[in-house]
Amino acid sequence: MKNYYFGDIELIVCDDYEKMSKACADYIAETVNNTPGAVLGLATGSSPVGTYKELIALNKAGHVDFSDVTTFNLDEYYPIAEENDQSYHYFMNDNLFNHVNIKKSNTNFPKLDAPDANISASDYEKLICASKRVNLQLVGIGLNGHIGFNEPNDVYPAETHYEKLTESTRQANSRFFKSIDEVPTHAITMGIGTIMRADRIAMVVSGENKAEILYKTLKGDITPRVPSTALRFHRNVKIFADAAAAGLIENGTVV
Ligand code: F6R
Repeated sequence: MKNYYFGDIELIVCDDYEKMSKACADYIAETVNNTPGAVLGLATGSSPVGTYKELIALNKAGHVDFSDVTTFNLDEYYPIAEENDQSYHYFMNDNLFNHVNIKKSNTNFPKLDAPDANISASDYEKLICASKRVNLQLVGIGLNGHIGFNEPNDVYPAETHYEKLTESTRQANSRFFKSIDEVPTHAITMGIGTIMRADRIAMVVSGENKAEILYKTLKGDITPRVPSTALRFHRNVKIFADAAAAGLIENGTVV
């Protein structure tokens, strides 16, 4: 494991995806163990699956207790049925919540049965604000630098909102669907402002195809055209990367 610092961001480079997942899970478990009634922001996608597997193992071994933990997920497709196996509700139950001692009533997502998407988004923002602060927000990163579903934009959206997905994001996510036509066109996502209010932010990033965007996130211009660059304004960010994703940073080449 190697550590690099970019201003206040700590980049932790691990040999492979498994070691990266273990390092990130240990960090989340430590936060939960040191914070009574911890509030976690969580992400979906391929990147955190290994982290969730490790958290399940830590929970089963008695090293982390979720009984008093509250969670807010970053985003959810809209509209989508909660029981659809591509919904982020389904993903979280399947990859984490069904296997640890969390109370499902303490797990939160944008509501799918609100009168409309904008009401669902503003209700979710209010719910996050009404809870005490998010102690740790876990994020992945899209190939275009999106975090949550904050796509490249002229501004950093402040609050949870309804967002049109870019064609490149729909294309990237089509691997989970039978065809591109089935990939939802919109989602509700925490805003960049919502994400930045968390005390700690942890990112997991793996694979050679993420090397360029990780490089831009840490070394490129800070711009809403690369939404992840906003993380450089936060005081407590750890990025857990595997060697392939860190290739451009470490060697100037993609390994
Ligand atoms: C998921 C999310 C997205 C993903 C990103 C990377 O809740 O908010 O920003 O983190 O699209 O996805 P993967 O990990 O599948 O490459």
